[in-house]
Amino acid sequence: MAETSSGDAFVAFERVQKSYDGENLVVKDLNLTMPKGEFLTMLGPSGSGKTTCLMMLAGFETATHGEIKIDGVSINNIPPHKRGIGMVFQNYALFPHMTIAENLAFPLEVRKMGKSDREAKVKRALEMVEMGAFGGRRPAQLSGGQQQRVALARALVFEPELVLMDEPLGALDKQLREKMQFEITHLAHQLGITTVYVTHDQTEALTMSDRVAVFDDGRIQQLDPPDVLYEEPKNSFVAQFIGENNTLEGVLTEIRGDTCVVKLDDGQMIDAVPINVSKVGEKTRVSIRPERVEFNKDRMSEGAHTLKAEVLEFIYMGDIFRTRLRVAGNDDFVIKTRNAPDQVRLTPGSQIEIGWLPQDCRALDAV
Ligand SMILES: Nc1ncnc2c1ncn2[C@@H]1O[C@H](COP(=O)(O)OP(=O)(O)OP(=O)(O)O)[C@@H](O)[C@H]1O
Ligand SMILES: [Mg+2]
Repeated sequence: MAETSSGDAFVAFERVQKSYDGENLVVKDLNLTMPKGEFLTMLGPSGSGKTTCLMMLAGFETATHGEIKIDGVSINNIPPHKRGIGMVFQNYALFPHMTIAENLAFPLEVRKMGKSDREAKVKRALEMVEMGAFGGRRPAQLSGGQQQRVALARALVFEPELVLMDEPLGALDKQLREKMQFEITHLAHQLGITTVYVTHDQTEALTMSDRVAVFDDGRIQQLDPPDVLYEEPKNSFVAQFIGENNTLEGVLTEIRGDTCVVKLDDGQMIDAVPINVSKVGEKTRVSIRPERVEFNKDRMSEGAHTLKAEVLEFIYMGDIFRTRLRVAGNDDFVIKTRNAPDQVRLTPGSQIEIGWLPQDCRALDAV
């Protein structure tokens, strides 16, 4: 998706900083614009500032510096009842004294919707989260996962233009979680809802989002569509955080335009693509995705780079085989192979040769 200028953005964070104690910045210089209808996920480790960003966008926290705009208007100037934001928070606060159906009808009543319309919308929203039979119960009579689903239905029932969701599926089992992931994105796109979604779960972020903002230490480390994020991480943090990743430590010995040579810690030399390294002599960490590594000579591409490896462990995972190797002093080098009828199952203790294309090998910062 093309970068939008702040001017036509539906949601914009402009040089936003946040400190709770007047000393430490938990959000540092956040710049982010979203076009209308985009599904954007904030992904990052605990404490990286995701919820804080969502709370500022909702207007529950104020930015220490900078500005947040919705449809060109500063959030500070939009009264709460005019914000039209649907929200699901980490602690899914349902109104305890109301039944489930009353909880869902509440945002519709506030918007002065008639009774029959209200009932129809509440029914549809409850069915969407498979809670159709629970309308008459109170929140305390539901499980955590059921409450979470009701909170989700309540955020979507009035078809808001902007929906903010903070870990809305955290309490659900895997199967329901995957079903709801699909339902949420489907519904958001169908209704043209702009969504800011927060999760720690990278698979969830990759499968649901138009773009993902990877947070660490109060900053966006990378903001890109899922395929770009996975295939072209811009630094070691993103490469490690998104998907499985093999790293080999070394020193940059040569740079020639868009390739470089790295001397690994065990003395072997390999070619790589320089990403955020620039100086000869600099320490680097090269990164290779497990599925880009080949050990079968017949399948090895022309121009593949080869290294010796020792098989340490073979793990059968059903659809794939996961094999752990020792490569250039790294005992956690993992390769993944598809469980096909002709696929070899590697035996621990054996010595093999592995290979990959230099363009699949990225030289990143050594952290
Ligand atoms: N109300 C508050 N007062 C003071 N510090 C806070 C407050 N809320 C959050 N923080 C601090 O700000 C930092 C960012 O917190 P935030 O809740 O935004 O992280 P997060 O990325 O949502 O983490 P998690 O994945 O654990 O939910 C943390 O160091 C946290 O301790
Ligand atoms: Mg949080």
